[in-house]
Formats: sequence, C-alpha cells, structure tokens
Amino acid sequence: MAPTYTSFVVLGSGGSLSPYIIDALSKEPDVKKLIVFSRLGSSSKPIPPSSKAELLQVDYNDHTSLIDIFRTHGTEVIVSTLSTDAVTDDNQKKVALAAKEAGTVKLFFPSEYGMVTHGLGGKGHGWLSGKDEFKDFLESIDLPYARVFTGVWFRWIPWLTGYNANGKINILKDKGDTPISFTAEEDIGEFIAYVSTHLPPSQLANVRFRLQGERRTTKEIASQLGKPIEFVDAIPGENSEWPTSIATECELGVGSTGYNHELKKDNDVAGPEGAGSGNRFWEGHVWRKIEDVLKL
Ligand SMILES: NC(=O)c1ccc[n+]([C@@H]2O[C@H](COP(=O)([O-])OP(=O)(O)OC[C@H]3O[C@@H](n4cnc5c(N)ncnc54)[C@H](OP(=O)(O)O)[C@@H]3O)[C@@H](O)[C@H]2O)c1
Repeated sequence: MAPTYTSFVVLGSGGSLSPYIIDALSKEPDVKKLIVFSRLGSSSKPIPPSSKAELLQVDYNDHTSLIDIFRTHGTEVIVSTLSTDAVTDDNQKKVALAAKEAGTVKLFFPSEYGMVTHGLGGKGHGWLSGKDEFKDFLESIDLPYARVFTGVWFRWIPWLTGYNANGKINILKDKGDTPISFTAEEDIGEFIAYVSTHLPPSQLANVRFRLQGERRTTKEIASQLGKPIEFVDAIPGENSEWPTSIATECELGVGSTGYNHELKKDNDVAGPEGAGSGNRFWEGHVWRKIEDVLKL
C-alpha cells in the first residue's frame, strides 16, 4: 500500500523532543523528504550527519519564503515541536498560515505532547489554553490537525519529582496515589512517523491521540525505580514552582491522558477517549517502559 504522506517539515531542531521526532522520521523508510526548520541565529545543536534530515534556517516572519519552501518540497505534513513561547508569540501560527496558502500541506501536528489541553481554550490557563486555542485557529483556516497527548515524558520524571535536587522521589504531602500517564520520547516520535505514513487521511484529520507508555502513581514510580520517597510541601529544584505546579495538577488527575476537563475526571478507559486510547492506532507496537529509558 502506498504511504499516506512522504514529505515532512519539523519545526524546531535542537529542543527536548525534536531530536526524537527527527530521528524517527529519518528512520521511517516511507519518509522521502525531511526538512527541519530552525530560526535564523538559533544556537540549537546541529542535526547529526547520519540523519536524512535537511536543516533550513528560516525567518518565521517571511511568509513568502515559507510558502516557497513548502511548494518546492511538496510538504504534506508539518510536525511542530516548538517551545510554548512559539505557541504564544505566534510563530507556530505564521507557519500554519503559510502552510495553508502553499496548498500542499495536508496535516499539522501542533506542539502539544503533554497533558490534555482539549477543552482549556478561553479558560485562562496560560500556554495550556493557548494550545487549545491554536487548534481553534487551525479549524478556522481549515487546516487538518492531529494532536498528540502524551502525559509526562520519561526523561522529565527526575524534574517532576525533584530527583535531581536530592536523589529522592519527592511527593507532595498526603499525595502520591493518583495515576499519571508517562510516555517515552522515542515512542512519541515513532508514533508520529508511523501513523502519518500508515493511517488513511480520514483517521488523521482533526483528531486527538491520547498516548500512554506507562500509567503510574508517583509512589509506584519510586518503587519501580528503587528510590526513596520524601514527602514535601514543594518539589525541590531550580524554579521549584514549575514542577510543584505540575505535580499539583497531576495529583488532581490532570496528568492522565484520559482526562476530561469538562467532567473534571478521566474518560471511560475502555472508550475512544480514554487514557492510552491512541495506542491502538499502532497495532503490535511494544511501548517502552520507564526503566528501558531512564537510568537513575
Ligand atoms: N510532557 C512533557 O513531559 C513535556 C516536557 C517538556 C515539554 N513539553 C511540551 O513539548 C513541546 C516541545 O517542548 P520542548 O521542551 O521540546 O521545546 P524547547 O526545547 O523549549 O524548544 C523546541 C525548539 O523550539 C524552537 N523555538 C524556541 N523558541 C521559539 C520561538 N519563540 N519561535 C520559534 N521557534 C522557537 C527552537 O528551535 P530552533 O532553535 O531550532 O529554532 C527549540 O529548539 C511543548 O509543547 C512543551 O509544552 C512536554
């Protein structure tokens, strides 16, 4: 069967997630063209020479040249790995507008890859609301999108639990029993490469993929990794308010990829929007376990 899409652009070159997406797309034989956008003057790490990706330095404000690039390469899929700054400063939006005008782009993966943001638009949750509002924008310009919700990435467990600060799994006092979705960065990249080359366009347009490599409470994480627990008022580490705020949300259940912001609880786990429901689109895949990736 002919691959669904073969020409890709990845936005962002040397971030926390982009190397995994670039690597997975590079290894997918059905991907014939792979361009990576990086900002002019970016100090991101260069792409390894073994990758089949071609790095282009772009000016996100140069609408005409973005259209030219998409048309020249017949770009069909854009995978945005841009930072949350780019969601709020409109660089992601500028790419989407050029993609729409180019006329070649069939699918846009907006920068999501975390907690479920569906339903947060207009609710004043900062960049989380901004991600949901970006989906509304894509609908307004009629550019099909696929959103990938992943819960917490495996390599961010040390940050979320303050492990880097004191070698312990720090858990907010009286908490630690709420299940959270965790996914390996490699699985996120490989999932995107797989579905966009194998699923029909109808299964890719305007969808939410709710992935889940493992579902664990923070107490279970401590036991799985064989690390001591410390109960704390705030997660220790640099900018402690960030992991503390995410850990607080996770303890409310929001870290599950089955979370429904309207109902304020998980969707039915057996239903089409349950935690990990997106995994079914990659039949036969063995999802990585935390210990496959995280060596502490
Ligand atoms: N679930 C989790 O555990 C988790 C953890 C972290 C992040 N996330 C989410 O994953 C997504 C990607 O995050 P990340 O940490 O990988 O991003 P990042 O490393 O902060 O940034 C990714 C790339 O975006 C580009 N960039 C940065 N600021 C930009 C701007 N203002 N305009 C245009 N490009 C810009 C840079 O590429 P160039 O320098 O090449 O231009 C950068 O390498 C975000 O949506 C974030 O919320 C999830």
